[in-house]
Amino acid sequence: MHHPPSPWRLSVAPMMEWTDRHCRWFHRQITRRARLYTVMITSGALRHGDAARHLDFDPAEHPVALQVGGSEADELAHAARLAERWGYDEIDLNCGCPSERVQRGAFGACLMREPRTVADGVKAMRDAVAIPVTVKHRIGVDDEESYGFVRDFVGTVAEAGCEVFIVHARSAWLQGLSPKDNREIPPLRYEVAHQLARDFPALTIVVNGGLAGDAAIAAQLDQVDGVMVGRAAYHDPWQLAGWDRRFFGDTAPALAREEVEEAMVAYMARQAAAGVRWPAIARHMLGLWHGTPGARRWRQLWSDHRLRDEPVARVAAIATAARLGAAARGAKADAAPQPQELGT
Ligand SMILES: Cc1cc2nc3c(=O)[nH]c(=O)nc-3n(C[C@H](O)[C@H](O)[C@H](O)COP(=O)(O)O)c2cc1C
Repeated sequence: MHHPPSPWRLSVAPMMEWTDRHCRWFHRQITRRARLYTVMITSGALRHGDAARHLDFDPAEHPVALQVGGSEADELAHAARLAERWGYDEIDLNCGCPSERVQRGAFGACLMREPRTVADGVKAMRDAVAIPVTVKHRIGVDDEESYGFVRDFVGTVAEAGCEVFIVHARSAWLQGLSPKDNREIPPLRYEVAHQLARDFPALTIVVNGGLAGDAAIAAQLDQVDGVMVGRAAYHDPWQLAGWDRRFFGDTAPALAREEVEEAMVAYMARQAAAGVRWPAIARHMLGLWHGTPGARRWRQLWSDHRLRDEPVARVAAIATAARLGAAARGAKADAAPQPQELGT
């Protein structure tokens, strides 16, 4: 690689309930280079709530971005200052969430209809901090599905100083579809992200939605600057294992699955001492052995409620013995789920 790869070349998507600090710590054992995102935190929760509970993270998680939801420029600027003070590498504004709760607050995907409001928010954040301010958005909302709609949105927000756009390449249908349906039913149109990359060559355009596997990622990277992977990364995290070498040209040795598991067990033991029970962490790594013999037994044991009060080292020993035993008895490799099969 002749110039250093873009810091946005590969990332794991922000996912509510899922990409908490423990999940990110886990992903960071598998890839040193991919950018990681928090779940969306509203600017109001940061202003009025317990900011430390939302913002604390482990230095090992870098590079890590805080995703915020909101629309008021002062509140967003305040959130950006907190993000910078806590050491985040980026603050990302959510303009893609279709949930009704978010629509009532008039942010998330409905902000795509208000590019001036987004531009004002971006400008306020840019004025407040030195870290990059980015925007994650959809390609349309409801009947606004023309290319001109998303092009003008990106153009207006770019004029306010946003240089990185993460494009979830489907529309948000705000009438009558649940958030889950809104991640599956509106068709993916990657060509819209590709056209944005051609029309705005100075911007960093990251494509997101339904992508998994090195071949699909590589094909997208011929057209855009980066790829963000969500559900597939969560359910089949070992996909991330080849990213540093293949997509960042980073040939430093990587951990094997066993070593990642060991690192997680040590982490869970440390967290237990700090009052975090291991099941709250282990739930994020259940896909670690996907696609290998014995994975199903391993996963069952790590999610077995009867083991919840056991020390984590003991659960690890039981789960590993069960995995190896099942493999020795010739258990079939459970196939890694495909993104379209994942019911999330
Ligand atoms: C459980 C779940 C929670 C999500 N929460 C967020 C969120 O907080 N902020 C956001 O921008 N997108 C959120 N998303 C959307 C993802 O970031 C991503 O755009 C979407 O899942 C499409 O990518 P994928 O097909 O690779 O999963 C969420 C998705 C899922 C499955």
